[in-house]
Amino acid sequence: MIVLGISCYYHDASAALIRDGEVIAAAQEERFDRDRYSPVFPIQAINYCLSQAGITIYEVDEIAFYEKMYLKFERTVLSHIAGWPYTLANFLSTMPLWLKDRLAVSFTVEEELRFKKPVKYVKHHMSHAASCFFPSPFDQAAILTVDGVGEYACAAWGSAGATRSASTRSCTTPTPWGCSTPSSRPTLVSGSSRARARSWPWPSTASPASTSISGAWWS
Ligand SMILES: [Fe+2]
Repeated sequence: MIVLGISCYYHDASAALIRDGEVIAAAQEERFDRDRYSPVFPIQAINYCLSQAGITIYEVDEIAFYEKMYLKFERTVLSHIAGWPYTLANFLSTMPLWLKDRLAVSFTVEEELRFKKPVKYVKHHMSHAASCFFPSPFDQAAILTVDGVGEYACAAWGSAGATRSASTRSCTTPTPWGCSTPSSRPTLVSGSSRARARSWPWPSTASPASTSISGAWWS
């Protein structure tokens, strides 16, 4: 299976191409348009990945987007409502971006790439986990991601297995360790080619603020 991963419309737009669980190519758009942290749709990075793999877009089985955009939009709107009217200025400055670019990812993919299948939206922390697990040398790994905030989650933990799927739980914001710095996104992968991940002492039950996001990478 060939999967093309895309991130854009926030910062560091990029693309990655994975064939049967192996990373074939990955690149940030800033390397091509020379705009530091470039947020635009990464068409040049995508073309680079395809050329490195020696394939066309028509040979790609799935396109995965790095977060569940509609969930993030929901959280953003609710945050604006909760802080109203103090959020008015931010609301007016960000909503055009949401309507013009972020909520139109599927349309942009079809328009720019002529890719007809539905885009798969991956949970933000799953994307961070995948970005460490797929390039790692491990068949199984324990995973911890801590970020400012994804859709709602600010931390996730769990394991990824030989089938290259992941099972994680996550904590929703706010938590003592979440939302500290919007740009902080350390991800830790620890594992081995044996069953070390299974022996990791994960909590048997999650805290009331946590939710399960187990399953395939884009479930
Ligand atoms: Fe992040």
